[in-house]
Amino acid sequence: MRRKLAAGNWKMNGTKASLAEVAALIAAHPSPKSEVLLCPPATLVAAMATAAAGKIAVGGQDCHMKASGAHTGDIAAEMLADCGASHVILGHSERRADHGESSDMVCAKAAAARAAGLVAVICVGETEAQRDAGETLALVGAQLAGSVPDGATAANTVIAYEPVWAIGTGRTPTLEQIAEVHDFLRAELVARFGTEGEGMRLLYGGSVKPSNATEIFATSNVDGALVGGASLKAADFGAILSALDAA
Ligand code: PGA
Repeated sequence: MRRKLAAGNWKMNGTKASLAEVAALIAAHPSPKSEVLLCPPATLVAAMATAAAGKIAVGGQDCHMKASGAHTGDIAAEMLADCGASHVILGHSERRADHGESSDMVCAKAAAARAAGLVAVICVGETEAQRDAGETLALVGAQLAGSVPDGATAANTVIAYEPVWAIGTGRTPTLEQIAEVHDFLRAELVARFGTEGEGMRLLYGGSVKPSNATEIFATSNVDGALVGGASLKAADFGAILSALDAA
């Protein structure tokens, strides 16, 4: 009942020339079973939305919590929607670490995203020290509770579990560790949101690549992936999409 979602996060990578990868991805996967989302830097959202021509969804990587105003350098959710975005990643660990984003701020941004008609892809995940201290479930539970606004629905909210120590490192949790966190997050979502929580997609993120995608996608309560490095090349992201379609 939950449609699988392959999401790519280009982070601070890509110029207009990179849009060739989008064309290649669409050409190689003209009608995937899974939903496909790419989140380029803000400078490329409009051009990517044009290049995607509705064949894949395009998203931002952050938005401001306010609708407009004196916030130099920031981007409002409505502006992303205005240039063709349908989604926005919020609370990525790099934003939480580099820009001091708290769960309260992520929650306010998610509310702003909803008001602009965007789907919020809300990220949670523990550091290695927190995992070693046995704090993983308490930490991701607190991030989830604090970052997802009341009234969130399966249609406007996606959750991504991204262990900080697995991002860009080539290291991944064991499948048992992924299942433990995803099953926990599902139970928390159902307890708070009922059937809407049952319907929210739960993505795994952190060093997903073609070689490990199939086993990750076979894991309990994994409805897709949020892919960083491997989303930059159509061949790699396409292989991950094929693994998801086959799951
Ligand atoms: P990675 O990044 O796939 O390069 O590990 C994932 C993410 O940060 O979304």
